[in-house]
Amino acid sequence: MKRYLITITAILLNTALFAQNKAIDPGAVWPDNNGVHIQAHGGGIIKIKNLYYWYGEERRKGLDTNYRYVSCYSSSDLMNWKFLGDVVKMQDPENLGYRWILERPKVYYNKPTKKYVMYFHLDTRNYKYARVGIAVSDKPDGDFTFVKSFRPLEHESRDIGQFIDDDGTAYLVFEDRALGFHIVKLSDDYLSVEKEMSLVKAPLEGGAIVHYNGLYYAIGSALTGWNPNPNKYATSKSLEGPWTAFKDIAPPQTNTYGSQSTMLIKVVGSKSTTVIFMGDQWRPKSQWDSRYLWIPVEIGDGKLWLPEPQPFTINVKTGEFKPANSNH
Ligand code: DGJ
Repeated sequence: MKRYLITITAILLNTALFAQNKAIDPGAVWPDNNGVHIQAHGGGIIKIKNLYYWYGEERRKGLDTNYRYVSCYSSSDLMNWKFLGDVVKMQDPENLGYRWILERPKVYYNKPTKKYVMYFHLDTRNYKYARVGIAVSDKPDGDFTFVKSFRPLEHESRDIGQFIDDDGTAYLVFEDRALGFHIVKLSDDYLSVEKEMSLVKAPLEGGAIVHYNGLYYAIGSALTGWNPNPNKYATSKSLEGPWTAFKDIAPPQTNTYGSQSTMLIKVVGSKSTTVIFMGDQWRPKSQWDSRYLWIPVEIGDGKLWLPEPQPFTINVKTGEFKPANSNH
């Protein structure tokens, strides 16, 4: 009888572990294909053919502290993610010392060179080095090899954001405390920065941009470390500005529902276009348990707003989303 019960429990557990995710549940533990909470913090997502790739900071427990890790996951539906491994396992590349920093990795696919080019924030533990690092790979799932680091257009760069416009042009957003929020165009091979599009004079980090119905929407978070704050947005007809004043994206007392902006994903389908706000709910003392706050935003005519978080499903073919458990 006991053995029978153990077998049944094992089968049930196994089914639970490998069950498909039927929805995206903002702020909840998000199991990957192995039933393990996704480790892709401060991340970025790209789509290649019909597959999405999600790269982010790997912060699982028990990592060798001599290394920094970037994980990679793939998905065809944005709800179920397959762990493809750690595509970066890097030792201190520039003698940065104890507790050096690699944060917010973003990967771009460069068609002419057929290389996957990763940008990340590279820093010393006191955040004074303030540079971007670049690593490249021939395949989306690595391994990525470190190439170099630099200050984009000689500016300090901490949080970085990724934006690829509808015409495929690749941009980097970076935060430069003293001046504001830079939006820069990458060079043809993506290995350097070609020119500045805008310097948005606002002390913001966690920069994210989406191009929606002819308007650019830029989101940023205030500079409050790991603590959430009311994130804000501005719009412009051109990446070169001028940008409107910044306005709240959610009721300010919710501090962006406890999250910090990381990216805006645009899902263009046959029936609709959904823009998803992708935020990190940081847990600095237990980073492995930091959560993801994804919310389909209300957007259009210069307005952007995060409705209250709730579980939702997304259909990447039609572009439609709906609340989970809804019968409509
Ligand atoms: C806020 C940033 O957005 C995070 O990426 C991280 O750098 C923390 N600050 C560190 O305090």
